[in-house]
Amino acid sequence: MLKSLRFRLNGKLVEIEGREEQPVLDWLRDDAGLTGTREGCREGDCGACLALLGRRNLEGTGIEWVPAATCLLALGELDGRTLITVEGLAGEGPTPVMKALHVENASQCGFCSPGVTVALSHFLLAEGPRDEAAAVASVEGNLCRCTGYASIGRAARALSSDFSGLPLDFPTRLAALAARGVFPPALAATMQELPEPASPATAAPGSPPSGGSPSLGGGTDWYVRNTDPAPGLSPRFVGRDPELRFIETRGSGGGATLALGAGVTVADFFASKAVRAVAPGIERFEALVASPHIRARATLAGNIANASPVADLTAMLLALDARLVLSGTSDARELPLAEFFLGYKKTVLDGDAIIETILLPAAPRAFSFEKAARRERLDIAAVNTALSLAVDSGGAMRGVIVSAGGVGPVPLLLGTAAAALEGRKPSAPAFREAMEAARAEVAPISDVRGSAEFRKRVLGRLMAAHALRLFPGAFSAEELLA
Ligand SMILES: Cc1cc2nc3c(=O)[nH]c(=O)nc-3n(C[C@H](O)[C@H](O)[C@H](O)COP(=O)(O)OP(=O)(O)OC[C@H]3O[C@@H](n4cnc5c(N)ncnc54)[C@H](O)[C@@H]3O)c2cc1C
Ligand code: FES
Ligand code: FES
Repeated sequence: MLKSLRFRLNGKLVEIEGREEQPVLDWLRDDAGLTGTREGCREGDCGACLALLGRRNLEGTGIEWVPAATCLLALGELDGRTLITVEGLAGEGPTPVMKALHVENASQCGFCSPGVTVALSHFLLAEGPRDEAAAVASVEGNLCRCTGYASIGRAARALSSDFSGLPLDFPTRLAALAARGVFPPALAATMQELPEPASPATAAPGSPPSGGSPSLGGGTDWYVRNTDPAPGLSPRFVGRDPELRFIETRGSGGGATLALGAGVTVADFFASKAVRAVAPGIERFEALVASPHIRARATLAGNIANASPVADLTAMLLALDARLVLSGTSDARELPLAEFFLGYKKTVLDGDAIIETILLPAAPRAFSFEKAARRERLDIAAVNTALSLAVDSGGAMRGVIVSAGGVGPVPLLLGTAAAALEGRKPSAPAFREAMEAARAEVAPISDVRGSAEFRKRVLGRLMAAHALRLFPGAFSAEELLA
């Protein structure tokens, strides 16, 4: 649907009547004439279409920059935001990132190079570790059919060492990067504030999307299924509503909950100190989910509402005993996450209802997640599972929750497997019983990702991995698999 939009593009204010459902990639290439942003897969996989998106940060205290796949980004999402493409970066000639790619022969046909340039420029701008591993991880979502990646990895490592002493706070770091030409100074001068949106960024209930228009979180799932959305759709941008992007503790003592709004992204979730307090060590599983540019925009609520049987965040949230708050004129209630799913890709969502908030008990729990996929990284799971529990003063496991995906039409809670562990001290026999119970409890189908028998066997192995992670040294893999 045509809508008034106001945003900044490569530093300049743009005010247009734009098709809010149109992928930004198409608008950039066809309307704005910025063809440096490339179209590769159109499914979020290749990173050729990356641009830098400036948006309000989670705390609401300032601006944050994230890499965004513009093939999965609605033009309407840009209202009140700011976008930088490779043309904006190259405003005053090749930048140090481009030079590093050139020196290391990391660009051959050049098709992937704009996306790689954006990802590495973001690496230098972002908070977080600045070591070589982080530099290489920043281009995990960029495919290249020419270089074999070694040269791109060398360029990433060289940049991490050349820029190792960058200041930590954002304004000083940005000034330092501008002084060294990573961002043209005139562009950098526009990178600390957002323009006023032309329309309020609200996803308030009572404004139901019409005519098949979706409620969108980040659009990282919906746009894969709707690569050319029909003109006239008017998405409800739930993920853009600042009121719905929050992580906060509610209540106190044993009844305290952690509330995560519908706009919370996968990256927000793993970065949150409050989430890490509930599930210590959970951040180690972040790299198993998608790529940096998908995690920056994908929401937890979208992961749940999409109702994929192998959704990774859903498996984690099930094991953390999540409850959902739905809101809308057609339905407003709180329910356990497991009750949200009615069947394959079917949920209780109806009418204008959305998932507004995800609630987790705030008490800390030992947590483990496992995922089996054809590739170690950047792949959808064949089977996934999460397990959480507490250990009482006598050393017995309490409040055990086991979840599993890819072994049924919906993400599952495995009650029998959990019961096999409940109240017992951690031991190989207890976990062997739980593994056997898990295999007996599920009824997977065979498909391209694996046969039913394979999935059952893998589930047992992944349960063994939970046991070894949560109780290191207590028993051996051989004892578990005997
Ligand atoms: C390259 C790539 C890799 C991926 N890798 C993984 C992976 O490793 N693991 C994984 O689990 N997923 C993966 N995904 C899938 C996807 O990124 C996630 O499921 C993501 O969390 C979806 O969130 P979203 O906000 O982008 O959803 P959207 O695309 O915005 O929405 C998905 C669905 O949920 C609905 N919806 C969204 N928000 C709400 C809400 N608040 N209330 C009601 N309905 C809502 C939408 O209408 C739509 O039907 C990948 C996707 C891509 C493109
Ligand atoms: S075109 Fe491949 S990620 Fe967008
Ligand atoms: S240089 Fe050709 S795709 Fe990367």
